[in-house]
Amino acid sequence: MIEPPAPQRTRLVPLAETHAPPLQSLCEACREFYRETTGVPPGPSEIENLLADVPPHGDRRQKRLWVIFHQAILIGIADCTFGHPEQGDFWIGLLLLHPDWRGQGLGSDIVRALMDYARRNDAPRIGIGVKADYRAAQVFWRGLGFAPVTQQRMDLPGFGPTLFDVMMLPLG
Ligand SMILES: CC(C)(COP(=O)(O)OP(=O)(O)OC[C@H]1O[C@@H](n2cnc3c(N)ncnc32)[C@H](O)[C@@H]1OP(=O)(O)O)[C@@H](O)C(=O)NCCC(=O)NCCS
Repeated sequence: MIEPPAPQRTRLVPLAETHAPPLQSLCEACREFYRETTGVPPGPSEIENLLADVPPHGDRRQKRLWVIFHQAILIGIADCTFGHPEQGDFWIGLLLLHPDWRGQGLGSDIVRALMDYARRNDAPRIGIGVKADYRAAQVFWRGLGFAPVTQQRMDLPGFGPTLFDVMMLPLG
């Protein structure tokens, strides 16, 4: 069995029902992120949305949903899948850290562990969709070596049609 991603400073654990209350608090603390990227605040049951969210290619078995712990505190979520945008690619649908835990290198450490996990699963590339005008996220992903390969227009609840960069990093 391939071991789950193992960042140096946090722990990734498969999402379980018992995580619902702290996960909901996390999403509410990330209200600004939801406003910025969807135009609407987080819903009343984000765990249901995360579980219901099907990968773009529709194969739920390829989905990997982890909560992120720092010691005993749930500080984030990573929603990923294999098979998007191309077969075999590893796609990060969402990586979200509590505002109190940002800017300390934890996010880069987690992405490096996701890169390693994708590589161990023979993925040729790792990717993420970043809202074209979301500067902080653009800086973060570009800093890790991700580069835009194409643009996609998505219909967002609060914004209508919105431009996203599909950013990919080849895994040598
Ligand atoms: C994006 C996110 C996962 C990054 O994790 P993080 O732990 O805050 O990032 P790091 O501390 O590892 O930062 C690494 C680099 O990214 C850049 N960066 C991170 N946040 C930034 C910000 N708000 N503005 C500008 N640059 C930023 C910096 O270049 C930083 O390097 P430095 O520490 O040498 O300055 C986290 O900030 C987060 O959850 N943000 C809200 C959700 C989000 O935007 N998710 C991505 C959706 S596309």
